[in-house]
Amino acid sequence: MSETFQAPKGTFDLLPPDSELWLHVREVMAAPLRAAGYGYIETPVFEETALFERGVGESTDVVTKEMYSFTTRGDDRVTLRPEGTAGVVRSVVQHRLYAGQLPVKLWYSGSFFRYERPQAGRYRHFSQVGAEALGVDDPALDAELVALGVRAFSDLGLSRVELLLNSLGDRTCRPVYRERLQEFLRGLELDADTRRRIEINPLRVLDDKRPEVQKQVADAPVVGDSLCDDCRAHYDAVGRHLTDLGVAWTEAPRLVRGLDYYTRTTFEFVHDGLGAQSAVGGGGRYDGLSEDVGGPPMPGVGWALGVDRTVLAMRAEEVALPPASRVDVFAVPLGAEARARLLVVVDELRRSGVRADLAFGDRGLKGAMKGADRSGARFALVLGDRDLETGQVQVKTLASGEQVSVPIADVVDVVKESLR
Ligand code: HAM
Repeated sequence: MSETFQAPKGTFDLLPPDSELWLHVREVMAAPLRAAGYGYIETPVFEETALFERGVGESTDVVTKEMYSFTTRGDDRVTLRPEGTAGVVRSVVQHRLYAGQLPVKLWYSGSFFRYERPQAGRYRHFSQVGAEALGVDDPALDAELVALGVRAFSDLGLSRVELLLNSLGDRTCRPVYRERLQEFLRGLELDADTRRRIEINPLRVLDDKRPEVQKQVADAPVVGDSLCDDCRAHYDAVGRHLTDLGVAWTEAPRLVRGLDYYTRTTFEFVHDGLGAQSAVGGGGRYDGLSEDVGGPPMPGVGWALGVDRTVLAMRAEEVALPPASRVDVFAVPLGAEARARLLVVVDELRRSGVRADLAFGDRGLKGAMKGADRSGARFALVLGDRDLETGQVQVKTLASGEQVSVPIADVVDVVKESLR
């Protein structure tokens, strides 16, 4: 036998019945967005590499270390999307969606790719549901979007998701903060790599998880103290709207995000049952991103929720999971003629809204009845050659074993009635 293949490192297959849970999570996350006027967008899973370099930021870990980038046969530099916002903004600019009704509200669901060190909750291929609202810088829009994320988690039955909120300032006040922070950081005892980072991306130093660094940055200036009046007013308004919406949040003055496009509102949804990879979602405002990627000035705010980590959170909280998909009726034909007849009956059942399956292949009565039990169906329809002569099918209630004979022509109606 030749060598078999495994799913690549940092990836996993979704198989039934677990895969139902991923479908369920995506559906529940999308529902509040669809009810709030967000339209569905699908963009390619790969984009020009330069889009992410300019959009996500050349000094971020995502761009420097984690992108799946390659040169195509046609010499184009492309990258599997590590996140969704840059592609959505590219698409809105390309199709001039900003020329219509504002805000442009869009949601998406799909696969994302980051070459990270795999661990629990951190994969190289993962799944997000995301939302972006573009063209308006109203703080009420930030609050609405955050509340829709909160709603998604609570609709999934999660009660231990905490909302962390911060403001990163804008292009007026952030440079002032950056300089203050750099001045502070240059006075610390840090290794050469981290010192270089101070000059390139000082905010990321605050995010360094090593205890010796954490201890030293404990007294670092926080961005909140340097906000300009407009950013402060925006932040306060977001907080007020969230309160009006009944959403609880925790102020997180040290929250920095791993992507460079954020301005003003930034937030993360964290869960206490996940260990190191505690963020089940995150997002914020990105008022300069459109211009960074060659578009017109166009403010925006958005989030992405991690589907895989949300499933882990649901398992950690032991929330009731949706029942696995199953059928109501399982048909067992004994012989070729009976199979031909039941194939049609099963099709009729499905058309009238009954979930139904059929025993395929030649498994004999015993094997086929085992299939019926495993299917989770309430009724088995058993049809043999003698039944065909009399035009009757046996309807067996699987839980009790009780069996009745029904004319084949009536079986769809009889089953439908019994399932009511
Ligand atoms: P992000 O914080 O990089 O933001 O990712 C959002 C969520 O995706 C995370 O909170 C996490 O749940 C999940 N996630 C990220 N990386 C991985 C991974 N390697 N394995 C498993 N799950 C992961 C963004 O992607 C932004 N585009 C969000 C946004 C939209 N900001 C504005 N609009």
